[in-house]
Amino acid sequence: MQNIKKQFPIFSRPEAGSRYGGTNHPNMIYLDSAATTQTPSVVIDAMNDYYTKTRSNVHRGIYDLSEQATAAYEAARASIAKFLNAEREEIIFTSGTTHGLNLLAYSLTPKLSHRDNVVLTRLEHHANLVPWQQMAKHYGFTIRYIELTPEDELDLASAEKVIDANTKIVSFALVSNVLGTVAQAKKISEFAHARRALTIVDAAQAVAHLPIDVENLDCDFLVFSGHKLYGPTGIGVLYSKKALLEESLEPFFFGGDMIKSVSYTDATWAELPERFEAGTQNISGVIGLGAAVEWLASLGWDKIVAHEREMMAYALDKLKNEVTIIGPAIGHIHRVGVIAFTIPSIHPHDIAEILNQDNICIRVGFHCAEPLHRHLGAGPTARASFGVYTTKEDIDKLVKGIEKVKKIFA
Ligand SMILES: Cc1ncc(COP(=O)(O)O)c(C=O)c1O
Repeated sequence: MQNIKKQFPIFSRPEAGSRYGGTNHPNMIYLDSAATTQTPSVVIDAMNDYYTKTRSNVHRGIYDLSEQATAAYEAARASIAKFLNAEREEIIFTSGTTHGLNLLAYSLTPKLSHRDNVVLTRLEHHANLVPWQQMAKHYGFTIRYIELTPEDELDLASAEKVIDANTKIVSFALVSNVLGTVAQAKKISEFAHARRALTIVDAAQAVAHLPIDVENLDCDFLVFSGHKLYGPTGIGVLYSKKALLEESLEPFFFGGDMIKSVSYTDATWAELPERFEAGTQNISGVIGLGAAVEWLASLGWDKIVAHEREMMAYALDKLKNEVTIIGPAIGHIHRVGVIAFTIPSIHPHDIAEILNQDNICIRVGFHCAEPLHRHLGAGPTARASFGVYTTKEDIDKLVKGIEKVKKIFA
């Protein structure tokens, strides 16, 4: 990953002032990739190409420009399918993880009753909690939670217990955005399928850090956001097993491009996957996301995983005597992407503000996982998170910054 920052224009030397404000940041220590990653030139170029060379609507125009845009849009879908080891028809574009999870909650729960339950886990992001809570109020099903082990991993014994004959859906994060722990997704899918429940994997925090193979995970649905894997904002993916798209999932959004035929009284649906993509889509976002997954895969997963493991081990080691780390800080637990922490008697907002003075960007608060924080007995926390461009120098500067914070509050 040496010199990879050079591929990210935001880290380059400032150019002449932009009329839209802001500048480039060669000295920025960006440790907030779990919130959003930075964007490499290849992704920006792909989107720019659409706007400057093929801008038109897709699937509609019988002219070269629109056909070129459609080809680029569908090529991105094929790249994403390959990236996940899925089929082209199984990839539906959304605006992000939150959109995908809401779509599934709205689409799958109307058939549930007060006898049924949906299983989540103690560590879910609000996006995989609130939609189910709202649907539960409406349809009367209960929500159950898979507990954490003392090391803050998902407890498989608890999973086996809470998933029962009345469980219809099991929805869980593959990687926690607070603890960085990785769910044993295959095992959880196995428990769920033994009870004929559907599984949903929230891969928002996993997709940039671990190779994802939906066949191997054996999940029924998987969702993620483009902006967390070096792609554009406002674009995401809902993967669904083809048979479920054909038989179990009804279209949720209705309008142009998703129909076969419409009369004044009814409509029939287009083929997969268009049936689930009503209206004009985020075309440049799709093309940018296609470029992002191609770029990421071209770096090589072995290299990405090895680099990030090295950065994580280095950071845990440097931070362990400086801060209180939330979640596992022991070597044998694979921790991915994030380190949430506190410093006794110092509010996380103060930590972030002082770090910001030295151009160090971290996130503070509940990280959209307030119930998890409460469950752990924690208040708001600070969180440093990593990407392929994170270096030991970045981590050293974070540690120096933390020493400064402590000195100020001593
Ligand atoms: C685990 C997890 N799920 C869902 C989301 C929501 O993602 P988005 O805001 O891109 O929809 C996030 C965002 O941080 C997340 O970390």
